[in-house]
Formats: sequence, structure tokens, C-alpha cells
Amino acid sequence: MICSNVKIKDGVLYFGGQNTVLLAEKYGTPLYLMDEATIRENCRNYVSALQEYMGQDSYPLYASKAASFKRIYEIIGEEGLGADVVSSGEIYTALKAGFDMSKAYFQGNNKTDEDIVYAMDNGVGYFVCDNVEEVDAIERIACEKGIVQKILLRLTPGIDPHTYDEVATGKVDSKFGTAIETGQALEIALHTLECRHISLEGFHCHVGSMVFESSTFTRSAEIMLGFMHELKNNCGFVAKILDLGGGYGVKYTCCDPAIDIKENIKGVCEFVKAECQRLDYPLPSLRLEPGRSIAANAGMTLYTVGTVKRITGYKNYVSVDGGMTDNPRFALYGSKYTVLLANKASEETTIECDLVGRCCESGDVIQPNVKFPNSVTRGDIVAVLTTGAYNYSMASNYNRICRPPVVMIDGERDYVSVKRESFEYLTANDV
Ligand code: LLP
Repeated sequence: MICSNVKIKDGVLYFGGQNTVLLAEKYGTPLYLMDEATIRENCRNYVSALQEYMGQDSYPLYASKAASFKRIYEIIGEEGLGADVVSSGEIYTALKAGFDMSKAYFQGNNKTDEDIVYAMDNGVGYFVCDNVEEVDAIERIACEKGIVQKILLRLTPGIDPHTYDEVATGKVDSKFGTAIETGQALEIALHTLECRHISLEGFHCHVGSMVFESSTFTRSAEIMLGFMHELKNNCGFVAKILDLGGGYGVKYTCCDPAIDIKENIKGVCEFVKAECQRLDYPLPSLRLEPGRSIAANAGMTLYTVGTVKRITGYKNYVSVDGGMTDNPRFALYGSKYTVLLANKASEETTIECDLVGRCCESGDVIQPNVKFPNSVTRGDIVAVLTTGAYNYSMASNYNRICRPPVVMIDGERDYVSVKRESFEYLTANDV
């Protein structure tokens, strides 16, 4: 099995030690499951690797766009991670969870004045500042409030991380960050250092998502440290923090490589230390911003089969009670997933089907060419694995379909961490 938290016992699929068929019965479908132990284990890998190889003041930030709800901020807070937040909505959710906002890092390429005020009023520790307009807005608003705001500057190191275009962000031609190559990064850094209400703490980059080559991170580090060194020579400024962003890929199918996160981080830290020594640059404290590699393999989605359509001479379609509303990733990126029947997990899979949702459009495909047992029929439970990242957080109410609940598994216990949406919720804002 692709994840160690997934097992088959007596023909039934177990997740986090629990019988998924019974969970589907108890909570209904579609259903997002998340395994608390896996989230915690993923967090601990990052925290311990950064502390061991870089030092006590280095820590990971959970990129909460991967899955943002109160309970997950509580868990990552308990595990010692900071949070990467990208909107006032994520800040609000983290606050509601009692998250320590001094460890919140506010990202995004277009923060409105309202966002900036909201973040400052709620004690967000760091702004990851994308562009010069934002620097000026932060300076103006911080001045009005009589505070000094800590920031990192987001730079683009000009790296192509070999992933899909929608998630590649480190190239010079990007809506994110300020380019090193064009000289604009130096300009924005010098400009920021003149701002009296901004404390420039360091630099950030994020080159992309679903990255499997560790050299991507060392190349980013090399370019970022080269820039930091140049800036030091130019004006004497020494950065305290280097944030290399997120992006480690995960195993969605048996074809994806498995990454040893700890080993990878060790390599990155060793590279950063050696490079700092070579450049005679004081060692900065390191941040990484994992999202997918914290949440993805901690999640699974369960559906109930409604119809099985066998079109003679063409294709087979298995329709379930969810779809692109709870998982838009195939429709958006052609993303691959591992799929199986939870109640017939040991049956031989002999027919190929497109697993489709219930939305009124043909593009509503969860996964094409899935192998199912020939006995697949109405009432069977379909499990799509590794859906903990970018599924719940990208879900929609298209066709006025209610979003599923998120049920957390905690050993022998299970509990609702996000409720199933109701029809009342759907019309709550209609006037
Ligand atoms: N830091 C920044 C600044 C980011 O923009 C992202 C992801 C991350 C960290 C976390 O990256 P991760 O470790 O999760 O790869 N919706 C897409 C993924 C978009 C990623 C956007 N930024 C998907 O479903 O594949």
C-alpha cells in the first residue's frame, strides 16, 4: 500500500487503524477522513530535522492553504510549527484556534490594505512581502499604528522546479515575488531598509509544489545566499532568516517516488551551513513551508457508488456521491490518485472505469481508468487515498452541493473537526 496508515483486513480497508466502511456508515459519505497521528508524525519529521541539522531557532511553517480548519492549527501549534497564512480568512481561522500569531507568516502577492490592517491588529508575526507596493503599504499602515512590522521579502531565484505549470512559482516570469536576476530584488531590499516602520528579518522564496529533486532546494539556497551575500557587501545588512518555502512532493500512486524528508532536510541544512561558511555569512535561521507533505497522506476521501454505467464497446463509468466539488484536482491538474473499493479491498480488480462525480458537467472526473472488481455496484464504498492536501481547502459548492465533513481519527477515537454543510448553510447569505 502507498501509505503505512492504510491497511486491508478481511477484505476491508482500514485507515489510521479504523474500519473505513464503519466510518462511512457512521458519518455518511462523501466523507473526508484525516489521521491525527500521521499529521503529527509528518510535523515531527520536519521539526526534529530542522532542529537537529540547523539549530533550535529553525522551525517549519505549515502552509495552511493545504488544509485550513481550526483543529489543524491546534495540532500544528502543539507540534511546534509556525503557520503560513495567505488570507484574512486563514488568519481568522488560526486565531479562532488560539494559534500563537507571533509564529504566523502572512503570504500572498496582493494583500489589500484591509488585510494588512487585520493582520497587524491581530499580531501576525511576519509579513512575507511580495512587491514594492506592499512594502509601501506596510510602512504607511505600520507608521499610522506606531509599530514596527517584521517582514521577509519574497524573491524569485529564477528556478524551474520541474513540476506542473500551475504550481511553479520560482521562475523570473511569475506573479509572485521580486526577481533577483533583474536587479529588482536588490532595489526592493535597499528600499525596505530605508523604511522606519519595517524590520527586514530575511528573505523568502518558494519555487513550486510536488518537487521530488532535493537539488531544487539546494539550488534555491545557493541563489538566495548569493543574493544575501551581495546585499551584505553592498550595505552591510545581514539577514536573520532564510525561508526556502514548501514544495516536497508526496506519493499519490505507486509510480511516485517516496521522499525521505529527514534525509532531504539534512542535505539542505548541510548545504546552507557549508555555503555560509564559504561566503563568510553568519548562519541564518531556516524556515521551510510544507503543506502537502504534512497533510496529503493524512487524508482519505470516502464515497458511495450510485451508478455503474457499462457502455458496450466504449467505457465504464462509476458515479459517486461527490466529485469535483470535494476534489477538483483531476479537473484542474490531471492529478493522479490511488483508488479502491473499501468494502471489497481484496477482490481482484478486473474492469476499468472512469470514477466520476455527480456534478452536471463531463469534466467532473475524480480519476479516469481506475481498476475495480467486476462486482462494483450501487452502495459500494470508494476510497480515494492521499486527499488530505488541497481537497477540502479547494472544495466548492458548485451545483449547490454541500461540502463533506472532515472527521479526524485519533487512534481508537474518531471525531468531527469540520461539520457537514447543511442546506441552511448554503442559503445563509442569500437575501
Ligand atoms: N509556501 C508557499 C509560498 C506556497 O505558495 C505554497 C504552495 C507552499 C508553501 C506549500 O507548498 P506544498 O508543500 O504544499 O507543495 N493547489 C495545488 C497546489 C498549490 C500550491 C500553492 N502554493 C495542488 O492541489 O496541487
